[in-house]
Amino acid sequence: MHFIQILAASLAASVSYALPIQEGEKKVFVMSRKPAVQYRPQAKRATLVANVTDPSVSRDSCGSVSMGGRTFWTCRDTAVRIPGTDQFGWVFTNTVGWTDHHSDGSPAIQAGGPVGAGSNGTNNILLMKGPQPSLPTFYPLGSNECPSSGVCADGKSRWTSWPDSPPMVSNTAQDGTVTAYTWISNNHITSSGFQVLTTQPSVTLHKMTYKPNADVNVVPTVKPVDTSFWKANEIAYGTYGNVVNGGYAYLYGLLYPSGVALARVPVNSIEDKTKYQYYVSGKWTSTKPAITNPAAAVPNAGTTGQGTFYYCNKAQSYIWIGQNNPSVWADFYISTAPSPEGPWITPYLLYSGPNGDAELPSYSLQAHHHLLRKT
Ligand SMILES: *[C@@H]1O[C@H](CO)[C@@H](O)[C@H](O)[C@H]1NC(C)=O
Ligand SMILES: *[C@@H]1O[C@H](CO)[C@@H](O)[C@H](O)[C@H]1NC(C)=O
Repeated sequence: MHFIQILAASLAASVSYALPIQEGEKKVFVMSRKPAVQYRPQAKRATLVANVTDPSVSRDSCGSVSMGGRTFWTCRDTAVRIPGTDQFGWVFTNTVGWTDHHSDGSPAIQAGGPVGAGSNGTNNILLMKGPQPSLPTFYPLGSNECPSSGVCADGKSRWTSWPDSPPMVSNTAQDGTVTAYTWISNNHITSSGFQVLTTQPSVTLHKMTYKPNADVNVVPTVKPVDTSFWKANEIAYGTYGNVVNGGYAYLYGLLYPSGVALARVPVNSIEDKTKYQYYVSGKWTSTKPAITNPAAAVPNAGTTGQGTFYYCNKAQSYIWIGQNNPSVWADFYISTAPSPEGPWITPYLLYSGPNGDAELPSYSLQAHHHLLRKT
């Protein structure tokens, strides 16, 4: 008992936030939580170094993850360049590619490359490599989703197997084999106008395995674990973002009409729904909250616009970087928190990049944090 008191007293002295608790007749102090130090980085300067592109295709909304010594990119709609023209056609709902690293870990940016999307032959590019020219859809569409293009025969609607977040690596085995997961909403939209036909669609959980291979045409094998892992009108945990840390996968999903919700699961039990816990009213519970339950909201964990969550070891902080909502501009917002549950600080503008010249100038802003310099 004496030892506990000394320990408690030293803890109380060393942290600014300690809670007294009654232990028998005696009152001891135990540390409840580290003081929430706010991490609030500011951008010093930004230099555009290169476009990330496979010039033979036009891709949007790519997220990335480190896999087998390369960077693996998962993108949404991808159109193939019609040879010898600046025109692109034959849209695939999602595709993937690889980029290389130098031996010091930095991205292998090259001076010039093939002419095409984002590349005029002389500007610097980070070249995306991968299966060509057939470009199969990577995350397959379900048998009821007008496979394999997603465009239905009547031409009126299409299914989009659009990854909103990069693959979440759950394990890297001794031999380098990577296991990863992605949750993708089973979106059904009108072909004209992108009108959503199901407001809160069900979600497919995809599992990937990849054994590192020198051949860039070898991509992870992917198969759906469950085409209705989250049912229609349930919170689509994992689609808004993911972070793995401390043996848990933290999975973010959007509430309706607004807000961001959080679930967690031991990282080796991703496929076991009984192991999931949900953060509601400041506590972890095994009862899944309704998508309309405001008590399931984690304030400021993203703006609800597209973005990326990650853990920054150097800053000892969870970070979200992404887009304001609504916004079609390259204005990167940031929020940070000492733990996945928060408290998250109010997102603020970190950096404004150049906008594109198309109808929608900039969307699907993402952070590619594994490209950060390691030292
Ligand atoms: C990226 O590609 C765009 C469109 O082709 C071009 O305008 C821009 O200058 C390129 N950026 C860099 C950094 O090379
Ligand atoms: C290619 O793009 C770069 C970067 O935008 C630019 O400086 C260069 O003049 C362009 N070259 C050609 C041949 O258009």
